[in-house]
Formats: sequence, C-alpha cells, structure tokens
Amino acid sequence: MGCCEFPAAAQGCDGAFTVDSSRVTFGRGCLAELGDRARALGLRRVALFSDARVAGLPVFRGAHDSLVAAGLDVMTYTDVHVEPTDESFAAAARFARESNPDGYVSLGGGSVIDTCKAANLYATHPADLLAYVNAPVGEGKPVPGPLRPHLACPTTAGTGSEVTGIAIFDLLALSAKTGIASHALRPTEALVDPDCTASLPPEVVAAAGLDVLSHALESYTARPYVHRPAPERPSLRPMSQGANPWSDLGCREALRVLGQFIERAVRDASDSEAREQMMWAATLAGIAFGNAGVHAPHGMAYAVAGLVRDFRPAGYSADEPLVPHGMAVILNAPAVFRRIAAVSPERHLEAARLLGADTRGAAAADAGEVLATELIRIMRAVGMPNGLGGVGYADTDVAALAEGAYPQQRLLQNAPLEMTKPVLADLFRQALRYW
Ligand SMILES: NC(=O)c1ccc[n+]([C@@H]2O[C@H](COP(=O)([O-])OP(=O)(O)OC[C@H]3O[C@@H](n4cnc5c(N)ncnc54)[C@H](O)[C@@H]3O)[C@@H](O)[C@H]2O)c1
Repeated sequence: MGCCEFPAAAQGCDGAFTVDSSRVTFGRGCLAELGDRARALGLRRVALFSDARVAGLPVFRGAHDSLVAAGLDVMTYTDVHVEPTDESFAAAARFARESNPDGYVSLGGGSVIDTCKAANLYATHPADLLAYVNAPVGEGKPVPGPLRPHLACPTTAGTGSEVTGIAIFDLLALSAKTGIASHALRPTEALVDPDCTASLPPEVVAAAGLDVLSHALESYTARPYVHRPAPERPSLRPMSQGANPWSDLGCREALRVLGQFIERAVRDASDSEAREQMMWAATLAGIAFGNAGVHAPHGMAYAVAGLVRDFRPAGYSADEPLVPHGMAVILNAPAVFRRIAAVSPERHLEAARLLGADTRGAAAADAGEVLATELIRIMRAVGMPNGLGGVGYADTDVAALAEGAYPQQRLLQNAPLEMTKPVLADLFRQALRYW
C-alpha cells in the first residue's frame, strides 16, 4: 500500500508526489496589503496588469493606490484581451520589455493573470512565442530560469491561475487554445480577496464557478500519481502528476463548498458569504489541480473554445464570439464522467455526494449516471446552455472537435482512460445535448 488510499507504485512508476503553490494570503479586504507586500519583495517599479473592464472598477483604483502609498512607481497595462490570444500575449510582452519593471502585479480574472505571466516570461527570457508552448503545438522548451516577482490578485472565483504555473491562450492560426506550463510561471504571491468578486455579473460567476468545479472533479478522478511513469530525473516530475493524497484534500472540500454555495453566489451578488466561499473553493481547487492536473473535459474545452463561430455570451466584455472557458469545460463534463466512472466508481459517487446528490443505495455501476445527473442539475440551475448544441455545434462538427482536442496530450494523458480520437469524437457527440 502506498500513501493513504493509493496503492504502491507499480514497477517503473512514480512513488512520490510534490506539492507546490504560490504563497497565498486569503481574506476579505486583503487587497489593501498589496503595496506593503510588493515593497517587502524589494520591488520599486511595478507593472500593474488588468483588462479594460476591471480597470474601471474601484478595486483597480484600490490596488493602484496601495502600491503608490507604499512608495512604488506604477506603470499600468489595461489592454489585456479577455480570453487571450498569441497576438495579445505578444503585445503584453512588448509592453513588459519596453517598460522593464522589476516586478509585476496582475489584477483580474484568469485572462489577466495568464497574460501577466506570459509578459513576465517573454520579457525576462525573450524567445519566439512558440518556444515555451507545450509540445506538440509548440516547441516545449524549458523556461531557462526564474522570472521576476509577480503578485497575482484574482477578481473571479475561477481559474486558480494565481497559484498555478500555467498560462493559456488561443493560437489564432490553429483556431485552438494551448498553453505554457512551467513551475517558473507560478506567481510569487497570491492575494485572494473575496471582496474583489462583488461586482461580477452572474454569468461570469456561473462559468468561472463551473471551471472550479471541473478542476476539483478532474483532479479527483485523474490517473493516480502511482500509475504515471517515473520521470527521468526527480526534478522533471510534471505538474500534472495525477491524483494524489494532497490534491484529494482540496478537491473534496472544494466540491463540498461548491455544492453548497454556487447557486447562491450566481443568484445574488450581495450574498457576500456565498461569494467568499466560492473564492475559497477556487483557491483550494486551484492548488489541487496545480499539483494533480486536469484531464479530458479541459482538453476537449480547448477545441470547443478555439472553433467557436458566433456564440456571444451575456456578461462578458469581449467584442468577438467566444465560449467562456468554464462553460467550454463543463459542457463536456457529464459525457466524460459517464464514460470514465467505471474506472473508480467510489470516487465518482463520493464526488456526486459532496456536490449534494443523494447517493444512498447507489451501486458502483450507477456512479457515472448519478454524477452526470447531478452535474446537469447544477448546470441548469446556473443557466448553462444545453450541451455543445447550445453554443452552436452540431453533429457535423464532431470530427473537427476531436481533431482539435487530440493535440492536448498534456491533459489527455492525465485521464484515467485512453483518449483516442474515436473516443473523443464519441464524447463530443454525447455532449451535444443533455436535456
Ligand atoms: N492559468 C491557469 O491555471 C488557468 C486555469 C483555467 C483557466 N485559465 C484561463 O483563464 C481565462 C478565463 O479566466 P476567468 O474565467 O477568470 O475570466 P476572465 O479573466 O476571462 O474574465 C471574464 C470577464 O469577467 C470580467 N471581470 C473579471 N473580474 C471582474 C469583476 N471583479 N467584476 C466585473 N467583471 C469582472 C472580465 O473583464 C471579463 O469580461 C481563460 O483564458 C482560461 O483559459 C487559466
């Protein structure tokens, strides 16, 4: 027997897991600590990143004033593209190179934090954009050294980007999302202030909250770390190391909190308890998935987002069609969990129970259906579209979606079942409509 409920590692597989996170400060009002924390890191000139909408909110003024009050010079970049692209990453990196700050602050959702990570990376270690991007889409080169300090301040309860070493963008030439994954990208500090989410529209609370839900569910059901081949050298152990005892703790608690609070947080912006709990779930799930890795619903989401034609969601400040990240993920989830539950039915039933389903008397063979039914109930309660058909896809798109998802091997190999192109096509077909 290995650690806790995990079996001992098989021959050639990894017998250990590593826990990493940014330094986290959590609590209502803690954004006011920003200036002091930046100064304590030895910073004098910082670049403050945001997007146009967040830059118009009182929290942006608060962050800016806190930095100035601590005696820092602040340069602002508020042109972050919501759902970033290779072009928007490149523009942000240009700004970072030209302004040459000695540290970075990001204030916004995952789009802002990811863009700030990329700007820091390409300004510190200049290279072609595809150099550090995950293979096979990019060259997958290792980041050559540390980046400059980065304080990340999330304003959505969603991506967990403030504690992960991941930056995601849309590669326009391929119409596909992809990303950069490296320990070096992980922000130095995360200041997680639930009050920052008070101004979020319900549609963003819903999509970002379902991203959190899928982080927890995918990390909990990922291939266990003891089934992953041992790395060539211990220092090369990937961040997507599979389900492990540490990530399980965060996943279980995040699922329980989400089950209790997601509907309240979407329904009522003045429900500060629900919004705070959602932020806590996002932090727990972010640390968990940053150390375990997500799998098929996220891998498939990159194609769903990348091939969008004309879907324009309410609540988002983008000018062009887009499927918000959390929506693109959750639309695949019921189909995936129905299929994979047989690998670890007890985990799938436990997840359904934590989310609020009545699992008494459920047999192992029912696990997939019980969990899928609970997911669909939550999706409907918070206003998600009815499957991929609801964001404009049809049966005729299934082959292209499977082609688009298949290169996401970093994620797909973390699934407990092999995700071949025919399997992906079948999952996309099952995800077209749920009710
Ligand atoms: N790096 C990671 O580990 C990771 C993980 C998951 C997703 N992502 C990426 O993160 C991005 C999605 O991020 P997100 O879901 O946080 O949303 P987002 O950053 O794209 O923001 C969504 C919308 O909400 C607005 N907004 C943000 N905070 C607000 C606030 N407090 N009040 C009012 N409006 C606000 C934004 O202006 C935007 O219109 C995607 O590109 C996704 O691929 C990254």
